[in-house]
Amino acid sequence: MTGTPRHFLNLLDFTPEQLRGMLSLASELKELLKKGERPLLLKDKVLAMIFERQSTRTRVSFDVGMRQLGGQTLMLTGQEMQLSREETLSDTARVMSRYVDAIMIRILSHDDLLELAGASSVPVINGLTRRAHPCQVMADVMTFEENRGSIEGAKIAWVGDSNNVMASWVHAAKLLGARLDIAVPEEYGPDQGMLADIRAAGSAVRLMEDPHEAVKDADLVITDTWVSMGDTDEVERRRILKPYRVNPNLMAEAGKDALFMHCLPAHRGDEVTDEVIDGPQSVVFDEAENRLHAQKAILCWVFGIETL
Ligand code: CP
Ligand code: NVA
Repeated sequence: MTGTPRHFLNLLDFTPEQLRGMLSLASELKELLKKGERPLLLKDKVLAMIFERQSTRTRVSFDVGMRQLGGQTLMLTGQEMQLSREETLSDTARVMSRYVDAIMIRILSHDDLLELAGASSVPVINGLTRRAHPCQVMADVMTFEENRGSIEGAKIAWVGDSNNVMASWVHAAKLLGARLDIAVPEEYGPDQGMLADIRAAGSAVRLMEDPHEAVKDADLVITDTWVSMGDTDEVERRRILKPYRVNPNLMAEAGKDALFMHCLPAHRGDEVTDEVIDGPQSVVFDEAENRLHAQKAILCWVFGIETL
């Protein structure tokens, strides 16, 4: 491969048109799959999947997505690779680039992701870092638009911890013209990098502490676990984040037709109650399903396929 590979690392690396293209392709691939059609767009391509942390959705949806497109996957964990014996990420990338056609990695350090991508001559896909979860938010936007039409101008509320999924929502709001109100406690507010992204999003994103203010008139309420992978202060987090639980009363303060999303896995009774996550406004399982379709479009994009 010549030139810079087509990585998928962060939503901010893309133009709105590129993201729109991937979302359209995702919907087309979903329609085809429902009709039993599986175009073999990535026939014989091999995707290596490296997981430094646990995963259910990302692992299974990338694996199944590649198979549906005619490709194959290799499932690897950092622990069983020489990465755990201090082989560098750049050397790993240079070696893997000689074997496989693309790499998807879940690794906590975003700088490590960038190191891998910088040394890789094949596309690298971000399967979650502490700083971003762009594949998730592509699926989330797709899910919103299937249910409520264009996200442009929609009012979105993020309630709870400020984390990787929230960061990718900040990026999506900026690029796709949504309005995002973020309610997080001061103790678990955005770090400097995330604050800079929020500022760069201008009037698209507002930061506050009061969850009631954030959900007012929202078309979509989103939360996530209070304890992300890599967090160590679980007891303190559960104490401080308690007022941010999404329960029926908080949902009732959102817009009448507001949707509820959560990337899963959920910690029922903590960040969300059963009534909400299993209630009529929740689209969490459609959201999980759309990981498959959105990622198939992302996979096509990194291999240079933008339309059917
Ligand atoms: N939402 C998400 O990324 O789920 P997994 O951790 O199961 O992959
Ligand atoms: N914010 C969560 C997302 C899990 C899919 C975490 O990083 O653990």
